Amino acid sequence: MKGIILHGGHGTRLRPLTHTGPKQLLPIANKPMSEYCLDSIKEAGIDEIAIIIGGVGSNKVKEYYGNGKKFGVNITYIEQDEPRGIAHAISLCKKFVNNEKFLVFLGDNIIQKPITDFVENFKNSDYDATVLLCEVDNPSRFGIADIENKKILKITEKPKNPSSNLAVTGIYLLTPLIFEIIDNLKPSWRNEFEITDALDNLLKQNNNISYETITDYWKDTGTPDDILHANGEIIKKILKRLEKGIEDHIVGEGTIIESNVKINGLVTIGENCHISSGSSIGPNVSVGNNTTIFASSIENSIIMENCKINSTAEIKNSIIANNSEITDNSSGDEKIFLLGEGSKISL
Ligand code: G1P
Repeated sequence: MKGIILHGGHGTRLRPLTHTGPKQLLPIANKPMSEYCLDSIKEAGIDEIAIIIGGVGSNKVKEYYGNGKKFGVNITYIEQDEPRGIAHAISLCKKFVNNEKFLVFLGDNIIQKPITDFVENFKNSDYDATVLLCEVDNPSRFGIADIENKKILKITEKPKNPSSNLAVTGIYLLTPLIFEIIDNLKPSWRNEFEITDALDNLLKQNNNISYETITDYWKDTGTPDDILHANGEIIKKILKRLEKGIEDHIVGEGTIIESNVKINGLVTIGENCHISSGSSIGPNVSVGNNTTIFASSIENSIIMENCKINSTAEIKNSIIANNSEITDNSSGDEKIFLLGEGSKISL
């Protein structure tokens, strides 16, 4: 089987973080979110992977993953000129797929458990597609499946009045039959070629689609809050693997944590950081490499690489990109900002 990771799009809901690169490279627990997809695909025994790139900073994807050797896989890059939808992106992979069954993983979907069993079941089946469903609280944000007697009746993209709360996650097991269906697809109301429309057409045509259900953690990291939530879950998972409790933390090589620093659990700190006395970090905080934190308080936040935080203000629920500085202004109440387009601050 082959694997495909979708790594394009404009990531508009995550601006300004996505002005300089694709959202799928934003770090969760100090690792690009799309690397978790790559790990899952590899763990399922698939090592031929195409990454679909397009949009701002797609060269950064190539720089990071290279030919895949470092990650134990072979990577082919396929360019999508415009974000014209998931189905369109898949249609660009016809040659790469070459008549095999294949797996598509949206690079902004985070899942906790291995997908190996789902892949194996599909490999050994005669289904034309298997979708992975997950119960959600806000179904109108997703593709939704209606189920009756363990059969999918209908798949609808972002229905206004959803009749089910089962989201079609961004992990699809497909056969080359989908290419014919996509060729006959019309763009949706949001002017995209929707994979959900393609799957629904496949259902209407031969009704040979199965589903599996994700009962533990799955997240489409579309918003800053989603990213922060996924960050906490992934740190929890890493700590569990290291047989540590959630009140514990992970620290990279060369990092100095002075005495009198309060670490409140679910924290991961990268390499060569300096956390000085009087700081309070966590819960749910990731700090990227080479970041310095002077006597500051940080909670439920991602601070990326090469940042300098030196402030008495409590930093909470924040995502701070590479090379940012937050310092107190010694000349009174005056606040000084140098903010990129689309920045958000709450004082
Ligand atoms: C896309 C799909 C949607 C699916 C979701 C999962 O939505 O169109 O069907 O439920 O991914 O992440 P989008 O991210 O384009 O809003």
